[in-house]
Amino acid sequence: VKDTLRQRFDAVREGTLQLLDLVADGAFDSQPDPDFSPIGWHVGHVATFEHYWLLEQCRGDPPLPDEYRRLFSPLETPKSLRRALPSRTEIMEMLGDVRARVLRYLESGRADPSRGLPDDERIFRNVIQHELQHSETMSLVLHMHDRPERPEQTPLLAPGEAGDTPMVRVPAGSFLMGRDPIGDTYDNEGPPHRVDLEEFFIDVHPVTNAQFLGFLSSGGYDERRCWGDDGWAWRCRHNVRAPRYWLARGDGWLARGFFGDGALRPDHPVQSLSWYEAEAYARWCGKRLPSEAEWEKAAAWDMSASRSLAYAWGDQPPDSSRCNFERAFDGTTAVGSFGSARSPSGCFDMNGNVWEWTATAFAPYPKFVPYPYEGYSQPYFDGQHRVLRGGSWATRGSIVRNTFRNWYAPATRVLFAGFRCTRDADG
Ligand SMILES: [Fe+2]
Repeated sequence: VKDTLRQRFDAVREGTLQLLDLVADGAFDSQPDPDFSPIGWHVGHVATFEHYWLLEQCRGDPPLPDEYRRLFSPLETPKSLRRALPSRTEIMEMLGDVRARVLRYLESGRADPSRGLPDDERIFRNVIQHELQHSETMSLVLHMHDRPERPEQTPLLAPGEAGDTPMVRVPAGSFLMGRDPIGDTYDNEGPPHRVDLEEFFIDVHPVTNAQFLGFLSSGGYDERRCWGDDGWAWRCRHNVRAPRYWLARGDGWLARGFFGDGALRPDHPVQSLSWYEAEAYARWCGKRLPSEAEWEKAAAWDMSASRSLAYAWGDQPPDSSRCNFERAFDGTTAVGSFGSARSPSGCFDMNGNVWEWTATAFAPYPKFVPYPYEGYSQPYFDGQHRVLRGGSWATRGSIVRNTFRNWYAPATRVLFAGFRCTRDADG
């Protein structure tokens, strides 16, 4: 166990440092979007979180100096004050120093069960997951900075047909949703429970750029009937006309942002749009967004074996032959590229490529138990956040698993997130 944890700590940190190598000094402490902290803040927060849980709570070390503890606590320092950071060198030193102490602790045999964390294996794994998650957020912030030079690409011109995505039928019946919150899972992923669903149809692929262009160029952004009340108010207030990183060029569109090559390929999934835009598209083509349960059943439920799979292809960990994750392709890939990763229901791209918005507001499962502390998931069970599933091309490690629940406010547009549609069997 010690070796596995050690290997995972090393692998996760290596990926974090590779990402940070891409970050110019000017981007380290800048805040291109007030809803997101600077990359440097995330680095400091990763270090202080690890310090708090593994060194203070598990081993009993004294806390970090107060100014660090406060600055890197999301509860104590509002996002507007997170730009006043120590130097990059200082933050990187803290990151390395905390990790060196944690590894020494890991080698020393660890846990004093009397400290109230008897299953400290779980907290170690949570700390690893935490770094993986923050590293995707760092990618999001980095993507807000445009790459200075980019070869000219041919703009995306031709809209696709919404109907081009085949759908599969998912038969009625109950399935096992969620996972035991042990090992790599978070508190909000469990407990596992039976959920009974009516029969439904779901898109085999996420909606593509060309298909979304069909909605845009037919005037979907101006068609009131496509939008819910909140979505329409949001769309008007911000005069939203296209996904966040789309850039009008001549009669067509290119992609902006740090990652990728600037092309907006017709057969790649659309990304960087809000839940409102996803919902408007679904209404426009006579469909709807899947509920979170429908999404998970389509991704995970193996009806013939009567069990849920960790990933669409089974329980083997993800790698780049099975899905687009860990920034292996520097952006999205064509939908359906990973033939071996078809879910038992027949869906592609359930893990990686783009996060997928679901219709569901983030809420606890029945008999939810908070871990490692009350406030990890609970403050977001407020009806104001929508669940996203499946992970993106920038998601790291096992976070692309079928049960992982991500959540954001419906107006958030900077995520590597798209969607697929669903409809009722009798619809
Ligand atoms: Fe965090």
